[in-house]
Amino acid sequence: MDFNLTEEHLAVQEAARDFAEKELLHDAIERDTLSKFPEKQVKMMGELGFLGMMASENYGGGGMDTISYVLAMEEIAKVDASAAVIMSVNNSLVLWGLEHYGSDEQKQKYIPALASGEKLGCFCLSEPEAGSDATSQKTTAIDKGDYYLVNGTKNWITNGGSADIALVIAQTDTEKGHRGINCLIIEKGTEGFVVGKKEDKMGIRSSDTHSLMFSDVKVPKENRIGDDGMGFKFAMSTLNGGRIGIAAQALGIASGAYERAVQYSRERRAFGKSISQHQAIQFKLADMRTRIEAARFLIYKAALDKDEGRSYVESAAMAKVYASEVAMWVTTQAVQVHGGYGYVKEYHVERMMRDAKITEIYEGTSEIQRLVIAREILK
Ligand code: CAA
Ligand code: FAD
Repeated sequence: MDFNLTEEHLAVQEAARDFAEKELLHDAIERDTLSKFPEKQVKMMGELGFLGMMASENYGGGGMDTISYVLAMEEIAKVDASAAVIMSVNNSLVLWGLEHYGSDEQKQKYIPALASGEKLGCFCLSEPEAGSDATSQKTTAIDKGDYYLVNGTKNWITNGGSADIALVIAQTDTEKGHRGINCLIIEKGTEGFVVGKKEDKMGIRSSDTHSLMFSDVKVPKENRIGDDGMGFKFAMSTLNGGRIGIAAQALGIASGAYERAVQYSRERRAFGKSISQHQAIQFKLADMRTRIEAARFLIYKAALDKDEGRSYVESAAMAKVYASEVAMWVTTQAVQVHGGYGYVKEYHVERMMRDAKITEIYEGTSEIQRLVIAREILK
């Protein structure tokens, strides 16, 4: 496995690092406190190409590989995990799904605006009573001939308040179970499509999480992605790649907290020397770095599996479960290294600890990743 990064990869990494440090860092704490969506920064991310990195150049995307995407995600999440998830949903759930399963007309109509950031997308699978158990969809899309009639509620939708285009998973034929599910493209402003309340969250507070309600929404047949009944397969296949993005988000959160812990340990003095001279702190830093590197290799492996055409169901799940648990552990240690200063907002690590938690929950909880891995082992 060759993990040597090309000059192009390094340039993408540097551009993302530069953007994060110059544009995201200075008011990250304020946006977190106020739950303020980073509108200006998201626009800039679109202009810089971060919102459509893997979409093909034919449709105005960056045409980049998954490794480039992972590198950029890490750099952005290092500073602001909320900006990273906004980017992740648009790139790996919405654009990737559309490009791989959409019709030519759908690609031409939607990808250019989504890849440039002129429009933002969201991915709507979860419901109040269907999270991990994603096949038990209650939202219905009844076939009415030349359109579907959509009714139901989607929960926890990232970019839900800001998105112009929603990919909505819904049950058309209950008798067919998961093979009776479709994915429909529903545009904001369609009659009967209402954005519900914004969630007041523990972490990733400046990302925009809403419930979405659909009441007798008429969706033209040409807005269905793929053949009739392949919506669940679409969602699962898209999530395999999405999980690599979330793993990279977790890696970024962990790396950001680790770098701050190293710097702080050099500056803070206790018992007549810098705390970095105490072995207990040194061992924490050593363990943090080791686990971060292990997570990085799992993520690069999953990204390479995807780029080189191998199955990445298992490697993506392994990367996500491992990196998210590393992020939770490393950020907790980073707060500990900072002592009382770690417990207040000014030093960023308490925000990172709160942000890390979500990576163990969304795009499939850690329990679901283990279930996916075990099924791959035993199949
Ligand atoms: N890749 C491709 N296909 C898959 C798949 C995968 N990873 N997992 C399941 N499938 C397919 C199966 O092959 C099967 O299709 P066939 O019958 O045609 O072979 C079909 O999906 C149903 O699979 P199962 O029989 O295994 O279904 P299940 O109900 O036992 O388990 C599950 C499915 C793996 C638990 C699935 O429901 C799941 O992944 N749940 C987690 C949901 C999730 O990740 N939600 C994320 C929402 S988006 C989000 O969170 C975004 C964000 O925060 C930013
Ligand atoms: P449940 O499925 O009810 O799980 C509760 C607990 O039971 C968990 O610990 C779970 O692991 C465990 N559990 C459930 N089933 C099993 C099992 N078979 N074996 C072992 N343990 C099990 N969804 C979207 O569709 N789009 C989005 O953009 C999106 N963004 C999100 C953003 C945020 C901030 C949050 C909080 C969620 C988001 N989600 C989104 C939803 C997210 O994917 C779900 O919350 C997640 O899949 C878990 O579902 P649930 O919350 O219903 O928990």
